[in-house]
Amino acid sequence: MRCARSAHRVSPAGSHCGRTRENVSKESVSKEMTSIDLYEAMSTLRAVRRQRPDPIPDDVLERVLEAAIWAPSGGNLQPWRVVVVKDPAKKQGLRDLYQPEWQTFSKGYAERLNHMSADEAAKQSRVIAAGDTLAENFDQSPVLLVFCFHPGLMAITDLKLDRPSVVGGGSVFPAVQNALLACRAEGLGCTITTLLCHREAEVKELLEIPAAWGTCAVVPIGYPVSGGHGPIKRRRVSEMAYLDEFGASYE
Ligand SMILES: Cc1cc2nc3c(=O)[nH]c(=O)nc-3n(C[C@H](O)[C@H](O)[C@H](O)COP(=O)(O)O)c2cc1C
Repeated sequence: MRCARSAHRVSPAGSHCGRTRENVSKESVSKEMTSIDLYEAMSTLRAVRRQRPDPIPDDVLERVLEAAIWAPSGGNLQPWRVVVVKDPAKKQGLRDLYQPEWQTFSKGYAERLNHMSADEAAKQSRVIAAGDTLAENFDQSPVLLVFCFHPGLMAITDLKLDRPSVVGGGSVFPAVQNALLACRAEGLGCTITTLLCHREAEVKELLEIPAAWGTCAVVPIGYPVSGGHGPIKRRRVSEMAYLDEFGASYE
């Protein structure tokens, strides 16, 4: 990892759709911006579920949030907000909602281990154990980022199709991913979690989220207990990409 210094701040510039906007320049952001090769960051950004409770410095957290804001969204409407939860009582409240949801999920997941090879089952058991640790200690992460979205501000081009709509999420999850990548650059562990959507009404009440807004992800972030980041396992390009027609070999 390399560190580059930059002492400049973003400059305010006009407004758009009634909201104040700022131009984003390469001089923007931070007192002490951390950088990492982008491909290295993406290929080692694994779910880090064991996190230390040590606080995250304000400037580090601000860079993570700024990176989220750089994400694209339909019509540049940025129809999302994030509640940065640091309050111990609120984190405990989220933990009490998350833990039983994880237990239900992991029970079903554990049942699938019987159908896996011994190697794969051993790996997935470790993932479940890390998930158990996260669920039990959800409130011990120094920060929980609760991503909220406003469906009324979204360009949802697939809303009327006869299948589950996914396009709206495309105006929020790039921001979530940018935050994850910034965490990676800052040496912070993190993971997307979505199980709390099952308890959205309670989450909204706890965090006083207005009725028109939904929640789509909660990202616990904190410095990793041990190594944290490392190589990830994904399918090969040849399995995922097709040339000119669906199913046609790309290679
Ligand atoms: C949409 C989405 C929802 C997820 N929800 C959860 C969750 O609720 N709890 C959790 O521990 N991990 C969650 N994850 C993390 C995935 O389990 C993880 O990214 C995946 O298993 C790959 O692991 P890796 O990123 O460490 O390679 C979620 C990831 C995504 C993209």
